[in-house]
Amino acid sequence: MFSFVCFLWFTVIIRQCFSVCLHDVVQRETQVVSPPDAFTQARRLVSRATTWSPHLPLRVTPWYLPGESALLTPPQMSQLQTAMKEVTKTIGSMLSVSRREGPLLLNRDMNRYCRSVWGDPSLLNYKRCGSPDNSYHGERCLDVLIPDSHLYGYEVWPMNGTEPIHRTLDGAGVPDTDFLLYVRVAQTKKCALQPIVIAYASYCQLDHAGRPIAGVIVFCPKRLREVVNQHPHIVQVSLHEILHALGFSSSLFEKWIDCSFSEYGDLCSSRSRVTNIDENGQRRIYTPTVMQKMGEHLGVGSTGAPLENQEKSASSHWESRIMQGSILTASINPPHLTFLDPITLAAFQDMGWYKVNSSISHQLLWGKGAGNSFGLPSTCHKASEFFCKNKSDIGCHHLHLDKANCSTDTFLDGCYIYKPLPQGGECWLENGSEGTEEIYHHQSRCFFSNLTRFPEAPKHEKVKGRCYLHRCLGPNTFHIKVQGSEWTDCPAGEWINVAGFDGVLLCPDGRLCLGLEKPLLPTSTSTSTPALNMHKPATRQDIRVQVTLMAGLSWTSEKKTLLMDEVLGVIAHHAGVRSLRVYRTVPCPKRKVSHT
Ligand SMILES: *[C@@H]1O[C@H](CO)[C@@H](O)[C@H](O)[C@H]1NC(C)=O
Ligand SMILES: *[C@@H]1O[C@H](CO)[C@@H](O)[C@H](O)[C@H]1NC(C)=O
Ligand SMILES: *[C@@H]1O[C@H](CO)[C@@H](O)[C@H](O)[C@H]1NC(C)=O
Ligand SMILES: *[C@@H]1O[C@H](CO)[C@@H](O)[C@H](O)[C@H]1NC(C)=O
Ligand SMILES: *[C@@H]1O[C@H](CO)[C@@H](O)[C@H](O)[C@H]1NC(C)=O
Ligand SMILES: *[C@@H]1O[C@H](CO)[C@@H](O)[C@H](O)[C@H]1NC(C)=O
Repeated sequence: MFSFVCFLWFTVIIRQCFSVCLHDVVQRETQVVSPPDAFTQARRLVSRATTWSPHLPLRVTPWYLPGESALLTPPQMSQLQTAMKEVTKTIGSMLSVSRREGPLLLNRDMNRYCRSVWGDPSLLNYKRCGSPDNSYHGERCLDVLIPDSHLYGYEVWPMNGTEPIHRTLDGAGVPDTDFLLYVRVAQTKKCALQPIVIAYASYCQLDHAGRPIAGVIVFCPKRLREVVNQHPHIVQVSLHEILHALGFSSSLFEKWIDCSFSEYGDLCSSRSRVTNIDENGQRRIYTPTVMQKMGEHLGVGSTGAPLENQEKSASSHWESRIMQGSILTASINPPHLTFLDPITLAAFQDMGWYKVNSSISHQLLWGKGAGNSFGLPSTCHKASEFFCKNKSDIGCHHLHLDKANCSTDTFLDGCYIYKPLPQGGECWLENGSEGTEEIYHHQSRCFFSNLTRFPEAPKHEKVKGRCYLHRCLGPNTFHIKVQGSEWTDCPAGEWINVAGFDGVLLCPDGRLCLGLEKPLLPTSTSTSTPALNMHKPATRQDIRVQVTLMAGLSWTSEKKTLLMDEVLGVIAHHAGVRSLRVYRTVPCPKRKVSHT
């Protein structure tokens, strides 16, 4: 029997992979096919389903294109598939639809397979295809060729006759599917032009009611390989993109329907208008649930939810200045600072195609209760709890999990906010370095402070974002602890002193201990006793993996490496490791352990 032992190191590396979203551009280039008889006569009343059926969880079926996976190693591919599984699960618990019977079949575009149609109403085959277009080679979803087995067939008819002169039969369809998602991994032109893009998506088929039933997501392999080990990043970017393909797309606003008057949700009217431009020039979505949720959020009666300003057309993203932290803003933030918010869910409700499970939503703290004038370019220049003034000041992100930099981007229209530092600012991450007073720990948060230890010569330090421990006593009620101090009461909203230290610390109000945080990385130290182990933060967790090969198997070292990657991937996934880097400082030493 042979066995080999490798020492591999897990290091938690969080890179801020801000990705940008190309949906609007991509959607414009995607040909969309609807059923032949959709939206013809009665545009006012559309039947959502031929027969009424109860709403059941939306089944998104990913379809991996054969051959494309060559751009990823098998472990990378399986990590991608794991992420997609998580996304489809989230979507299934978020949205439900009235399911059609039988396997899903996609439509063909008559304008493409057919060169001419019988146009004389007296003919038997009036409106049927009379001659095929010989250049027709099937349907595409963006640049994916849809397999014939996923498509309805088509027929070509003589002028006057009961038998078609050409017939392509219906495909078998895709079972148990409400939305078919083609998954491509390809270094497309778009990937090359925008190297920061991880993925982009669009829809390409609609059903009778206008609901998207098929779409494509393209992963850019170069960028994907950089983040493939960062499971939450891939999940988040994929979810963002798929939400566009499922309906949150400016190109679909005109197709949203109102089913609220129909007892069974089977007869719906088209919404006359989804967006409008307000007196400040901001385009907003004005549909009932969205207005109600936006109003509740800002603490005003009821108001439209703002979309990103974009030249010419409406945008498919929420306005960054006002909706920071939402999954559907244009610049994609790190996963622990991004939420499926109630306003996004409200939009899905108002599309009319879905029933939404609102218990899946996370609150947005950004702008909560801040009123109607919150986040306008005219008001954001006053420093407030949400906006900052001094560029490059190190402060705290508004959720106080991360240190942040007062900065701006193209979506913020000149407003400055505290954006998480690209690296090393995660107070909640034990990263091995100890500041003089700072503590990086699972239970640490970012505080504005200039605390300095007493014996040092008094100096005037600027207040900055720093990482200290906190422990919750109740909602918005907590203690803090600085390296070497006792637990100190920290009344929300007040500046405090800490015994043994010079300087001050601001206790954030309405940010901590509210029970709204996403679960963060589990750590080896117990979260209920934060003081434990805090002097020995783990830079990295070393894991020793021993794999024993059966006698008689002779594997290439390449194969062994693949196996190890696979094993590590599974361990990392189950341990909730956000990212993992395998260092083989020495090539895996192969050791003969024993002979049998
Ligand atoms: C609604 O969401 C909650 C929270 O994610 C989940 O536990 C529940 O199963 C979901 N309900 C349905 C019907 O999917
Ligand atoms: C269509 O077929 C019927 C029966 O075969 C025939 O009587 C009629 O004249 C045909 N019409 C044309 C326009 O060919
Ligand atoms: C911004 O910086 C200036 C000078 O550096 C300082 O006087 C001012 O207090 C700072 N403002 C805030 C809000 O920190
Ligand atoms: C703060 O942000 C600016 C611009 O985004 C960047 O150049 C600078 O390096 C950042 N500072 C730190 C400490 O990260
Ligand atoms: C840990 O955090 C500190 C403080 O921001 C930073 O200077 C340091 O680079 C971080 N270390 C690692 C290994 O990321
Ligand atoms: C901390 O900041 C406060 C307010 O800006 C200032 O009054 C105090 O002198 C500073 N203390 C230290 C030790 O830097």
